[in-house]
Amino acid sequence: MEQERINYTQVVWEITRLLQEAESLEDALRTSLGEVVKAVGAEAGTIWFYNAAGDKRIYPSFWIGGADLTGMSLAAGEGIAGTVVKEGKTTVVKDCQKDPRWAGRFDEATGFVTRSMICVPLVNKYEVIGCIQIINKKDGSLYDDADVDLCENLAMLTAIAIDSNGLNLGFTEEKKVIISLRGVTKVYNPGTENQIQILKGVNLDVREGEFLVILGESGCGKSTMLNIVGGMDQLTDGTFLFDGQDYSKADEKELTMYRRHAVGFIFQAYNLMPTLTAKENLEFIGELCEDPMDAEQALDRVGLLGRKDNYPSQMSGGQQQRVSIARALMKKPRLILADEPTAALDYETSIEVLTVLEEVIHAGTTLLMVTHNEEIAKMANRVIRMKGGVVSEVIVNRHPASAKELVW
Ligand SMILES: Nc1ncnc2c1ncn2[C@@H]1O[C@H](COP(=O)(O)OP(=O)(O)OP(=O)(O)O)[C@@H](O)[C@H]1O
Ligand SMILES: [Mg+2]
Repeated sequence: MEQERINYTQVVWEITRLLQEAESLEDALRTSLGEVVKAVGAEAGTIWFYNAAGDKRIYPSFWIGGADLTGMSLAAGEGIAGTVVKEGKTTVVKDCQKDPRWAGRFDEATGFVTRSMICVPLVNKYEVIGCIQIINKKDGSLYDDADVDLCENLAMLTAIAIDSNGLNLGFTEEKKVIISLRGVTKVYNPGTENQIQILKGVNLDVREGEFLVILGESGCGKSTMLNIVGGMDQLTDGTFLFDGQDYSKADEKELTMYRRHAVGFIFQAYNLMPTLTAKENLEFIGELCEDPMDAEQALDRVGLLGRKDNYPSQMSGGQQQRVSIARALMKKPRLILADEPTAALDYETSIEVLTVLEEVIHAGTTLLMVTHNEEIAKMANRVIRMKGGVVSEVIVNRHPASAKELVW
């Protein structure tokens, strides 16, 4: 016990330093929350902010843990977090499922079962601005006073940091979910001695028009997840919905139709046909679509109309990748999946390609991109980190950077 308190003092110093020295307050808040989640041995944590000037609802801003709440909101007074915001009092709940305030629809919606929690109001000089929520101890034990003290310290330091730095929150409405994954697992070579489980219960919602970046160490299952979402691979267990339709058990034929109509793909390798010109590469794909975009229009959108008669070997890597983006646009997809699209490109051509993708997002297409480049993550609306076969962290970027601002 004594040991724990000494550690907690160190944690408080660490978050004080993080918040004071922060270049980006949002980054510092997320890191501080992560420190506390780790220190108390929690499964998850989130910071909710209160939209006092607007709809009087609270919105989760950062989420650390095995599920994603970031697209949801609660009215002040609703649920445990809403009650804490309304009443401004720290609340410790031993069994959420038995608590009448518990908004259990979150468990259903996220696939994450909430058992116990500490919920502490964030109070600035004048009013409650949100709350910090720490959920489930990993070892199944309950939270004690020292844990509560630590959370209250975090809340106090957070409120001070927000007061002195300002935090431009820009609340956004809930948007329509286009992709929904619940408890998705993937086992390769099942039943053999080479059996290996890569995905261990991925829960994730992607919203229409969103740009989502997926980060994570090599081999953690990013491409595996992207391939499942793209209908190129089948999940082992769990559910995968696209636009409300269940594709979890879809057969090869249904997946082919899904891929053909709904999804555009961009890979690290451009996979253009060397014997066809840029325009012919696009027209070839157009043949397979019901209502394709005009090939010249697609080339124009990536700024390469003037190169329409060039063969791939006559174009730079960045230009070839832009042709492959145009090819993905040919079927007017609602969703574009990009697996490390700039990994083979130098800085300048990467920015060229990202600028084109930025325009695609602005036109309303949903984009999921896997990358190892943390700088690119700054462009995303949300950043998903994968670890141990699950989504381990979700970050909302309230002010995504534009491609031209990125530096590496
Ligand atoms: N068809 C397969 N059969 C067996 N194992 C596979 C198969 N495909 C992928 N794996 C394994 O699954 C794990 C995850 O692979 P995946 O390609 O999803 O990782 P990743 O996160 O995209 O990594 P990287 O960043 O290196 O691209 C790896 O260990 C890989 O070897
Ligand atoms: Mg990969």
